[in-house]
Amino acid sequence: MSAKLPKLPIYLDHAATTACDPRVVEAMLPYFTEKFGNPGSRNHSFGWAAEEAVTKARHQVAELIGADPKEIIFTSGATESNNLAIKGAANMYAKKPAGQTQRGHIISVSHEHKAVLDPCKRLEKEGFEVTLIDPQSDGTVTREMIETVIRDDTILVTVMWANNEIGTFNEIPEIGALCHEKGIIFHTDATQWVGKMPTNVKEDNVDLLSLSGHKLYGPKGVGALYVRRRRPRVRLMALQEGGGQERGFRSGTLNVTGIVGLGKACELCAADMDSERQRLLNLRNKLEAAITNALDVVQINGHPDKRLAHLTNISFGFVEGESLMMALKEIAMSSGSACTSASLEPSYVLKALGIGDDLAHSSLRISMGRWTTEEEIDYAAEKIIEAVNKLRDLSPLYDMHNEGIDITKIEWAAH
Ligand SMILES: Cc1ncc(COP(=O)(O)O)c(C=O)c1O
Repeated sequence: MSAKLPKLPIYLDHAATTACDPRVVEAMLPYFTEKFGNPGSRNHSFGWAAEEAVTKARHQVAELIGADPKEIIFTSGATESNNLAIKGAANMYAKKPAGQTQRGHIISVSHEHKAVLDPCKRLEKEGFEVTLIDPQSDGTVTREMIETVIRDDTILVTVMWANNEIGTFNEIPEIGALCHEKGIIFHTDATQWVGKMPTNVKEDNVDLLSLSGHKLYGPKGVGALYVRRRRPRVRLMALQEGGGQERGFRSGTLNVTGIVGLGKACELCAADMDSERQRLLNLRNKLEAAITNALDVVQINGHPDKRLAHLTNISFGFVEGESLMMALKEIAMSSGSACTSASLEPSYVLKALGIGDDLAHSSLRISMGRWTTEEEIDYAAEKIIEAVNKLRDLSPLYDMHNEGIDITKIEWAAH
């Protein structure tokens, strides 16, 4: 039987970005027009109104992650938060001044977002040494894995809370505790985690945490960095100088509308986090069950349980992910190939898990959100199954597989 037809197209790419919640937009609107003041204007009511709104948002963000409002620095998003945290901490805690080598050791993981990997690469060029460890084959990173690579000169560890492609999450409280024992600054890119899972930076031993508005139903171009003020008091070298806003950590007139939206978005996420997570988990279980029951040679990537509830990453053997997406134009998803270069490269995240090029190329990331319905999931499952079957009908390799030939053992003739 055919699933009930939902409104098309269907959006199942919430790990890429989310729509702004209408309640967020409503909260923001007055700050574009009648309440347009600069929070830095200390001597009139327009400035006071803007400052009051920023203060409220600072409390809303802090509340969501168990921080003190004074520990929240507003930024333009997680990319900037990561850059400020990583470069700012490395330069502040460097063992030698700029221009020298052996300035200190930094630890991170090979399946981090580029917004972490690239600042680390930059620091490497500037005299720091970076160790990138690989995650386990289930995508997770443990305290023990970090412990084995810590050195006497390690100054910073940065490990993402949840991965953006596979949704797996890491032992952040345990890694944080380890860093505190060793007197090392600990940063986590929590862009995909915050707003979806309970977070308490104090209990979870985090020193620096990045988050972004557009991943939690807030606006794009706004984010925050949590900077611990006590035990230890974390210091950072600012990336940009100017008016000294945000306690000198981030100069520049504050994006008041964006900040108001981010604050409201955080408040809304906190309000029904547990019920929403359960709802999304039920939908994901339904989707995964439908697909795995109907199709062979499928693989769900990442740890079965240590995974965000709204996201699944599935490899469909003998099908190319991009072709699958082209066949499913009415469903917005992501494939395991990055079209960042002229050639389609298989996802470096999946490769870091030890997944081969073929299965990495054949993967889809499906991520649900606040307005995803059961009808949409039923429809998506039906269409995905249909499309995979059609593509496999055209695949001689799939025919050979069905005839029992192990295609990994075939020696193809070279020309
Ligand atoms: C894990 C992770 N870190 C950082 C970013 C970058 O965030 P922003 O778009 O706010 O700069 C993203 C967004 O794709 C992400 O998923």
